[in-house]
Amino acid sequence: MGFNWNFFNRFGWAVLDPDKEMYEWIDQAKKISQQKLDKNYFNKKQLRCGGTWFVGANFLKNDSHGKLNGVSLKGKAVRSIVGRYGKLFSEWDQAQVSICYRGYPQPSKSETLASFNYRKNYFGAHLDGIIPIGQPKRRYAQQYHTFIFGIPLVNFNAFAAPLVVWEGSHQIMRDAISRRLLKSSVKLWKDLDITEIYQEARKEAFLKCEQKKIVVPLGGTYILHRQVLHGVMPWGKHGRSDEKGRMIAYFRPTLKEPQIWLNQNI
Ligand SMILES: [Fe+2]
Repeated sequence: MGFNWNFFNRFGWAVLDPDKEMYEWIDQAKKISQQKLDKNYFNKKQLRCGGTWFVGANFLKNDSHGKLNGVSLKGKAVRSIVGRYGKLFSEWDQAQVSICYRGYPQPSKSETLASFNYRKNYFGAHLDGIIPIGQPKRRYAQQYHTFIFGIPLVNFNAFAAPLVVWEGSHQIMRDAISRRLLKSSVKLWKDLDITEIYQEARKEAFLKCEQKKIVVPLGGTYILHRQVLHGVMPWGKHGRSDEKGRMIAYFRPTLKEPQIWLNQNI
């Protein structure tokens, strides 16, 4: 059995139980990440929130099939994803490794007080691919992901900065953004300012949607709809994880055809 796509279509997320076919890849991803971090082999700009969050964008140098140091990305989740989305993307991107540490988030110079408060109170809720540009920030839909696939690399509990999704928010966000973008040719989407539309849709999602923490044991995985509003809950008093932090790998393959991004049937 793969992901429950009926559930996913309705709520914008789904999980799979631990799958032994995943363990080798997880071990490899964790080992490589740890080695790079121990050797300080990373861009310091990737360490944010006063050193409590390592963004880890494109951190893993996996190949276009997700293979890492000769270890294939395989298992029920991958087969299920390829079954649904395989024709829509041509390569697995280089995975992000997002790591939160005890105390996440802390204020930092690179973040305004308003952004920091939004991170604490609304968990930095966002849609991937909506890019803030300029000062003051305006927002544009510039990256068109097929889905978000999460692979925890360590065990952690529900208080250790878990991912949070607003269930069903993908429908609210997609409808709102579609009303603006679908009037224009797909080539122009990148330049259309959707700041207010995006903020209003987020507010609506906060009011109407349930928050759901996504925590799976090691070997388990999850998938998020590309338009589901999500964020990271602050590390709580009872947060527990591996001593090296709460570590999750994410794949976000780019759609071959950007117009699919707003297609409500896929
Ligand atoms: Fe995200």
